[in-house]
Amino acid sequence: MTTLRPISVIVPTFREAGSLPGLLDGLASLRADGHDLEVIIVDDNSKDGTIELIAERDESWVRLITRTSERGLSSAVIRGLEEARHDVLVVMDADGSHPTSSIPDMEQALAAGAEFTLGSRYIAGGSTEDGWGVLRWINSKVATLMARPFTKVLDPMSGFIGIERATWQRAAELDPIGYKIGLELIVKCRCTNVVEVPIHFSTRRHGESKLSLKVQWQYLVHIVLLARFKYPRLSSFIPFACVGASGMVVYAGLLALLDVMAGAVVDTWLRILVAVLLTMTWNFLWDRRLAFWDAGSRSIARQYAGFVVVCSVPVLVTFFVTWYYSDKVMLPLAGIMGSAIGSALGLLFNWAVNRLVVFKRD
Ligand code: GDD
Ligand code: MN
Repeated sequence: MTTLRPISVIVPTFREAGSLPGLLDGLASLRADGHDLEVIIVDDNSKDGTIELIAERDESWVRLITRTSERGLSSAVIRGLEEARHDVLVVMDADGSHPTSSIPDMEQALAAGAEFTLGSRYIAGGSTEDGWGVLRWINSKVATLMARPFTKVLDPMSGFIGIERATWQRAAELDPIGYKIGLELIVKCRCTNVVEVPIHFSTRRHGESKLSLKVQWQYLVHIVLLARFKYPRLSSFIPFACVGASGMVVYAGLLALLDVMAGAVVDTWLRILVAVLLTMTWNFLWDRRLAFWDAGSRSIARQYAGFVVVCSVPVLVTFFVTWYYSDKVMLPLAGIMGSAIGSALGLLFNWAVNRLVVFKRD
């Protein structure tokens, strides 16, 4: 076997005192086999005896970092990567799910030219210990599917990661949100050559999983952030189109409401005008948040003025088409026809000009 380079193993922990002895024993036996490795445990102040345990074992190759001001799996991993001394970096869970015996395979994959390596349950030879409920299984599958636009690896959810220092250092700004630091690194380091090493994923024996609903929500936010990073135009256009569609519904609703409230006293054209202006403002506020998130520092008033100018033609079309049909069909229906024509006319043009001019990046 080729000799391995020294490895820094990073282990994020939260209340894993029960599992740590098993993990450290596994790593110690790799060292006994001649593999040079250090361990960096990044614990979020578990107060479960972790500190005492590490002190008692008194192993010079084990370092414990206790964080008190920050919490979260991904930021803990980044902290560990920053503290690591060696050039080969491995991240793994403390709970025994990830076999220490696969670490040499991961180093070999990197040595053979992989930019990134993952301990994988789904590649040929990998497996998952039974006992995962149907719900967790479905959950994992759906999450994996959502990662498809970013990487073709079979197990992008894996938290068992190997990466060279030089690769991780070229990462564009990292968003340490949620659990999926592996996916984050693959995307932000722009890794293409990712090699999956088959592992047997064991069920934890001690403590409990920290995968909460909050973590799952964070994953959705994470996917949006990754999409904005990797596909900025599409991530702007799709929300823009959706906001446009929502505007049509709002517009028809407003027309119906104004009809009921003020139909007898206010002229039709004036009611249409009010609905058009309110809808335009609705679109502006949501587009600003969802479609043009990366706009520069221009003030909101100037953004609004620019938005109004850019939208003026479709807005006028919407107004006049609605007015034209207002004595032929019910007003909300006329509004749908008007805004459908107006929006279709303006969709691409409005989006492009808003993005490139009104909400231009700094
Ligand atoms: N420092 C720190 N802070 N560590 C944390 C935190 C935190 O807020 N939350 C979890 N950890 C640690 C745990 O102590 C454990 O060592 C590791 O991160 C994974 O947490 P688990 O709670 O065991 O996660 P899981 O079993 O739900 O998720 C596992 O499977 C996923 C794939 O299905 C992990 O391997 C994930 O990395 C993996 O993506
Ligand atoms: Mn686990």
